[in-house]
Amino acid sequence: VTPATHSVEVRLARRGYQIEIGTGLLDRLGSVVSQLRPTTHAAIVTDEHVHSPHAERAARSLHGAHIKVDVLVVPAGESSKCVQVAAQLWNKLLALGVDRQTLIVAVGGGVVGDLAGFVAATFARGLDFFQVPTTLLAQVDSAVGGKVGINLPAAKNMVGAFWQPLGVLADTATLATLGDREYRAGLAEVVKYGVILDAEFFAWLEQHTAELVARDPQALIHVVTRSCQLKAEVVAADEFETSGRRAVLNYGHTVAHALEATAGYGALLHGEAVSIGMMAAARLAARLGRWGADDVERQRQLLVALGLPVELSGPADADRLLAAMAHDKKVEHGRIRWVLPTRIGQVELVGGIAPPDVRAVLLSG
Ligand SMILES: NC(=O)c1ccc[n+]([C@@H]2O[C@H](COP(=O)([O-])OP(=O)(O)OC[C@H]3O[C@@H](n4cnc5c(N)ncnc54)[C@H](O)[C@@H]3O)[C@@H](O)[C@H]2O)c1
Ligand SMILES: [Zn+2]
Repeated sequence: VTPATHSVEVRLARRGYQIEIGTGLLDRLGSVVSQLRPTTHAAIVTDEHVHSPHAERAARSLHGAHIKVDVLVVPAGESSKCVQVAAQLWNKLLALGVDRQTLIVAVGGGVVGDLAGFVAATFARGLDFFQVPTTLLAQVDSAVGGKVGINLPAAKNMVGAFWQPLGVLADTATLATLGDREYRAGLAEVVKYGVILDAEFFAWLEQHTAELVARDPQALIHVVTRSCQLKAEVVAADEFETSGRRAVLNYGHTVAHALEATAGYGALLHGEAVSIGMMAAARLAARLGRWGADDVERQRQLLVALGLPVELSGPADADRLLAAMAHDKKVEHGRIRWVLPTRIGQVELVGGIAPPDVRAVLLSG
């Protein structure tokens, strides 16, 4: 049987592409890729957790379409998104005799997607690239939109490019092997899309929390599809982050990035930090009279029902958090622009918020 697939188009000025979403799609990778562009050689970039079984299945499917495949495995985790690992990959590609005809295929989470995309964007001044996201976060967020890059020791995502993939194939069945915390962290970004862009989707999430926690296949396909549509619309309107439209995607992220930077990378997963950050932004919006307390409570209850943290479990230092926020690279000329809801499904960018107001909502209630 051919599994049902959903397709989302990312419409860009120069070249659009499709995101294919469904259960068991990995086995169709070879035919999807061949239809996009005739290829005889692919280099799969993956990490040690995803290699078996997912990247192996991807490789088999490409073989089946008469594509020669090399598999490059990097260590799992954020620390692979660095210039040393990127350089190892450049050198391996050179040793493999890769040329402009080679397709780079990222099979993994956001770390692999950002790293492989960056290597594709830079090697030989740019190779074609295809995304096979295998975490919920990557399927709903990082594989969509064309931002690729690596970290510097002192600054996350500081070196990178806009490099759009030829296509994206999101096989929701690959999420079955994902750890519970990782899976739930991805749901935080899903809730984000509901709050910033789509009240109907938010209500759907409220009504399907049990299915979502249980990773029900149909529910997964719906959340990945709707999230990709919402992100694709924003990206199409502001591909290179110049108009400010894309900034709405940073809802919850001002505080999240500060939490990640001060808690030490790895202590909190990104989605967990986003969940806590969305609650801080929500309280800020309510404190400023911009958003109703009952909506703040709806957001809190949805996050809790999905197993996400809504406040820090340990003590936190408000001064350190405020200092970290001021260093965020999204800050322009020292001014933080907050993404604050006005109602569920709509946000505004708000500048000039006084530090005491931020301090008051940072930690809790
Ligand atoms: N480019 C963008 O627009 C964008 C957007 C959001 C986040 N990001 C980046 O994404 C990264 C985070 O992505 P992530 O949360 O996917 O992290 P990740 O890639 O580190 O994956 C999380 C963990 O899950 C493992 N894993 C992946 N798929 C699996 C599977 N199917 N089964 C079992 N284990 C699996 C990985 O090996 C890793 O240990 C960050 O570096 C962040 O900066 C980029
Ligand atoms: Zn995020």
